[in-house]
Parts: sequence; C-alpha cells; structure tokens
Amino acid sequence: MTAEVLVAGSINADLVVPVDRRPGAGETVLGGDTELLPGGKGANTAVAASLLGAQVAMVGAIGDDANGRLLLGALREAGVRVDLVRTADRPTGAAYIVVTPDGENSILVSPGANSALEPSALDGAFDDARVLAVSMEIPLPTVEHAVIAASEAGVRVLLNLSPVAKVSERALAAVDVLLVNEHEAAWLLGDADADPRVLLELGPFSAVLTRGARGALVITEDGTTEVPSPEVEAVDTTGAGDAFTGALAASLAEGATLVDAARLAVKVAAISVTRSGAQPSYPRAGEID
Ligand code: RIB
Ligand code: NA
Repeated sequence: MTAEVLVAGSINADLVVPVDRRPGAGETVLGGDTELLPGGKGANTAVAASLLGAQVAMVGAIGDDANGRLLLGALREAGVRVDLVRTADRPTGAAYIVVTPDGENSILVSPGANSALEPSALDGAFDDARVLAVSMEIPLPTVEHAVIAASEAGVRVLLNLSPVAKVSERALAAVDVLLVNEHEAAWLLGDADADPRVLLELGPFSAVLTRGARGALVITEDGTTEVPSPEVEAVDTTGAGDAFTGALAASLAEGATLVDAARLAVKVAAISVTRSGAQPSYPRAGEID
C-alpha cells in the first residue's frame, strides 16, 4: 500500500482534566473528570492528514500496554497505516493536560516508548512518500536522521519544531518547510520581536509561522504572505498546531502551493479549537466549507 504522507513523531495517551485555573507550585487544585484521549504530536498530525483524505503512514513507538493498543486502534480507525509503529520495552507515552476555561492548556509529557524510537525506524519508510512531517517528542537523533534521509530520498520535509529544541544546521538545511509558533520562533531567534524572515537564515527553504487566532505567516525567499484565520470561539486549543501540520502535509502531498496549503491548514486548525481534545476535534475533508 502506498503512503504519500509519512509522519514521524510521538504517540501519547492524553489524560485531559478541565480546571478553573492551573495549579501553582506546591498547590492542589480540584478539576473535572479525566478524559483519556488519543494524542501525541506525531499521531495527531497523522490523523489530521488522514481525515482530509491523504494516504498516511505513521512511524512511531508505543508500549506493550492498554494505552498503546488504544492509540493504535485510534490511528487505524482514522485510516492511518501503522505497520511502521514499533512496540518498545517502555510504557506508552502519556500527556497530562489541564485545560482552562479560555481553551488554553498546560501539558506535561512523559515520553516513555517515544524515547525509544531509533533512527532505524525510518529504514525503508520512504518508498512512496511525497511528504514527511516530523515533530519533536522523539529523540533528536531520530528527528535529524528522518529529515536528512527524507530529503536525500527526494521527499519534501515539514518539520514542526514543537516542543522547540536545537536541531543541527545540517538537518535544518534539509527542511523544506519549518513550522513554528510564536514562542518557538522567539526561542529560535532569541528575540520575540525579531523579523520572522530571519527564520530562513537558519537553513530551511521556507517557513510557516503560526500565530493562533491571527492565522499564519508563510515565509519564502520571494516574501511573506499573511494567511488569516476564520474567527472562532476557542474551547480547547490542544493539538491545533498538529492539525495545522497534518493539513499542510496532506495539501502539499496533493501538489498545492505552500500558501494554498496554509489556507487549508488555518481552517482545519480553527475548526479543531472549537471542539475538545486533539484528534477527536479534527475535521474530515467534507466539514471544511
Ligand atoms: O500538541 C498536542 C499534543 O502534545 C497532545 O496530544 C499531547 O500528547 C502532547 O504531545
Ligand atoms: Na481541540
């Protein structure tokens, strides 16, 4: 079976608790009921792309436990190919998420099996792929290897640098589209007020800066294009960046321009923030205007 979009990244069980406010150090806060939902930046990206109609294969790792089986089931149900998902001798990754009434979240990730995803997981993965979408929460050497090997195989590389970390210059130079939010861009550029066009000096061919409710900025050598977001009422922003990444990957794999792909991605991300959870909030192609 072919997979036009390959996603390498984390697979987590999200334990989501609604709270009035997040606890401070040494403080106990009572929240609402816990929901166990499929998550992980990698799996979220794969599901978002698959629901939009792309053929997607996931490269990742789970543990030999109930959460792992649940997450694999969620990927399969969304139509994602899982034969490249390995079972590691560690517990399945988990994310402890508190969501406040404004729809914002704080996330603690326990990577578990994701930490065991070795570069060799990408061996033979690039056969039919057109686009590789990689995110962090897996070991940095695996991220860097995936990016470089994909670019050598002629596969377009999207790097969602979340959570932000220092990636080698060599890997950044192999990136076709670097995806960052405003915090990540500020971290990378060392200055919240820096001109986002400087992102290209780090090596990627192009960059997309996501700006929450303000949409996205597409940055290429030819200039920058603002892509506004539809106005929505935010219920839960968890995984909106992953939805954006998955939509961008699906659209690029279909041959769309980067700006057109970003136009679709802002819509998909906007829909996702109006519903709770990450994966359960992602739209199918037919739900987008
Ligand atoms: O980006 C959202 C995701 O971050 C959650 O699903 C959680 O698993 C963490 O990886
Ligand atoms: Na959501």
